[in-house]
Amino acid sequence: MAERKIPLGPTYDEMLYPDTIDKNIRQKALRALKEDELDPINLFNITWKDENNQVRKIVLPKALTGVDANIIVMLGNGFPSGSHKVGPAYSTLIEGCVDGEINPGVHTILGPSTGNFGIGVSYICRLMGYKAVVIMPDNMSRERYERIRKYGAELELTPGSESDVILTLEKTHEMMKNPKNKTLAQFELLPNYRFHRYVTGNSAIEAVKGIGNGRIACFTSAPGSAGTIAAGDEIKKAFPEAKVAALEPYECSTLATGGVGQHRIEGIGDKMCTLIHNVLNTDFVVLINDDDTIKGLKVIHDGIEILKKMGVKEEDALYMRNLFGPSGICNILGAIKMAKYLRLGPDDNVVTIATDGFDRYHSVVEDLERRYLEVKDFVLERWARDIFLRASVDNIFDFRRKEAKERLFLQKEKDWLKFGYTKEYLDSMKDMSFWDREYEKIFEYNKKIMELR
Ligand SMILES: Cc1ncc(COP(=O)(O)O)c(C=O)c1O
Repeated sequence: MAERKIPLGPTYDEMLYPDTIDKNIRQKALRALKEDELDPINLFNITWKDENNQVRKIVLPKALTGVDANIIVMLGNGFPSGSHKVGPAYSTLIEGCVDGEINPGVHTILGPSTGNFGIGVSYICRLMGYKAVVIMPDNMSRERYERIRKYGAELELTPGSESDVILTLEKTHEMMKNPKNKTLAQFELLPNYRFHRYVTGNSAIEAVKGIGNGRIACFTSAPGSAGTIAAGDEIKKAFPEAKVAALEPYECSTLATGGVGQHRIEGIGDKMCTLIHNVLNTDFVVLINDDDTIKGLKVIHDGIEILKKMGVKEEDALYMRNLFGPSGICNILGAIKMAKYLRLGPDDNVVTIATDGFDRYHSVVEDLERRYLEVKDFVLERWARDIFLRASVDNIFDFRRKEAKERLFLQKEKDWLKFGYTKEYLDSMKDMSFWDREYEKIFEYNKKIMELR
């Protein structure tokens, strides 16, 4: 039998420790990141680390957060294609390749998404030589569709916006009847969990070295697929006192209260408890007003003078300008609220994530300006103070008790039994051993990727 070649790409270990990649490959990859984003060598840039092997992050100015604790935001915009969602997309595809289930030239890849995962899928498929179809709602930011088309994927649009992701899943399940189609199902498949628990989780642990007490008191993440929040599982292993808070739009509080509704925070709040969400480690659910994230984004992007007036150094204000999107602001507001709620002090660290940067939200801010008509500096100043400095401890739900967890298990059943998952499988997720077994597979995949590439 002819030897099966899979496309070249990194192991989980190489994504966490890019300094272990062959020096020539790493140098070529770093050059390509700046010069040619479509060069397949960019697969070796799927990492939180910069060229000096440091986690890309910002410690937010306290003049902006108004809290004593250090709020550290890990920056996803440095990943190729502009968001860390490329990590789960690659991990899911490469696992399928080494397992012999997905073959170039044979299979078409489906990517159900509300945008960034779709961008990640189209990008990865372009680099690894697969045809891709991204299935997403028709009412997301214009920049998302442009990027997906640029990377050469087809778009299959379903009606609605962020909270209509279930329609994309239904469409995907219908398209999967064709055996040529293989889905990178971010809400269901565990490579997404593995990438974030191992790569994001350990990068978060590294990111706080030398800051405060060097530990993590709280990790906040607004789930879309609930991949990123898996970092919390690794953080808790290292720092058992750490609390994990899932953030949701106030307008779509599915985890907190079973509520559903339309909202403006693209990428999160998808009206479900995803299959891969390990709710055992979700200690709190926190609701964030959706328009606060857009106003907060406007303040950070266009309110440099206001930020300076509040005491933020000019160089920090300028550096922050392009680092966040609405979900990043949501994560920051959740971090501020939790720092207040947990009464954290200057030695304590709260870690959170900016999935992507400002580049895909110009149209969202233009829409805000149309809606509010007058967005003069005095308005921005009011927003900055109200949204960041006066963030309240309202709408924080404690999910540490067994009865509260039960609500989340029931939500998961409601969302996933209908897609053919059995009660036994869902019940097996109620024990941490399920998640640890899934995690352990990383070490087999490391070996398989090395052998086959
Ligand atoms: C902008 C943005 N923020 C946050 C998330 C949520 O991340 P996760 O799917 O890992 O929960 C996503 C997911 O696509 C996203 O696109």
